[in-house]
Amino acid sequence: MYRVKRQPNQEDNYKLMAYMAKRILEDDKDEIASLANISAVINGYMDRINWVGFYIIKDGELVLGPFQGLPACIRISVGKGVCGTAVAKRETQIVEDVEQFPGHIACDSASKSEIVIPIYKNGEVYGVLDVDSPELNRFGALENKYLQEICNLITQQLQATG
Ligand code: SME
Repeated sequence: MYRVKRQPNQEDNYKLMAYMAKRILEDDKDEIASLANISAVINGYMDRINWVGFYIIKDGELVLGPFQGLPACIRISVGKGVCGTAVAKRETQIVEDVEQFPGHIACDSASKSEIVIPIYKNGEVYGVLDVDSPELNRFGALENKYLQEICNLITQQLQATG
């Protein structure tokens, strides 16, 4: 199984996190099961986060998918909040202080910073990976690199399965 064993070095944790995501995607092609396990792996290997999960486009809006953390808002319109902005701009959003982001949607009042990365299927946005932290400016180049790697793997997998 996908046993999470945290390492003392932070980048080692991120490498293991990306490696496990790759294995999860290779082992089974069920999208929801894979995203559920990937959210659990990210939650296991990243410290100082309070929410991690996916929103998936359904009928033109983002709908809550597999996640770890407190219950979250179910639907987000494209262009709204950090998640909807990442979809509209087709661009990763790194928010150092969510209070400074106009239109930020607060699902958990503990969240202070956030990263949202788009995932694609056949060139269209399929959904986003969203990670929240109770710390200001939690997401830097290292976090972006490894979370982006995971989103690229998911995009590749979605492409392969059609
Ligand atoms: N903060 C997000 C909403 C999702 S929750 O953080 C889980 C946003 O502004 O889009």
